[in-house]
Amino acid sequence: MSYSLSEFVTDVNESLTRDSGPAGREQVRANLERLLAEPDFIAHIRGLDIAEGVKVLHKEKGLGYLILAHATREGAGRHAPHNHGASWAIYGQVTNHTDMTEWERVNAGGDKAELKVARAYRLTPGQAGIYQNGAIHSVENEPGTRIIRITGVDLDTIERERFDPATGQVSKLVKTA
Ligand SMILES: [Fe+2]
Repeated sequence: MSYSLSEFVTDVNESLTRDSGPAGREQVRANLERLLAEPDFIAHIRGLDIAEGVKVLHKEKGLGYLILAHATREGAGRHAPHNHGASWAIYGQVTNHTDMTEWERVNAGGDKAELKVARAYRLTPGQAGIYQNGAIHSVENEPGTRIIRITGVDLDTIERERFDPATGQVSKLVKTA
């Protein structure tokens, strides 16, 4: 039995309606891996024109989450440590791989952050990782890499933070929408 994007959306709605916390999100992550195992879905994402670097596959009005397809552009494969503010995010690998680092902030809030690496690993095609509200991660992949990203809300509408692990500098990413 094949599993389609629209069936996945139905399942995401069910999971997040039942439990919008970590348990519901974990079901979303597991079902994304199920979708990433579908050759038709992978062929569809590989064939998409994602010249802008990102394409919205689905936006769920009531629950507010987004399903995005990303294609890494030349020179944009490294994302310094950042969080997704008050949102969660799930990253699912379609092609190539992504080197993920999860960071722990060891000092309390303020202008300077002291970060240490909590986990570092590689996502390969078919795998999906979850990053809860406020979690800090950095991302590295090669130009042309395609991933699916699901965000709890439209990240352009909330404040997020980016960190320079060398200097501790914290930059606010402000709302753009
Ligand atoms: Fe991220």
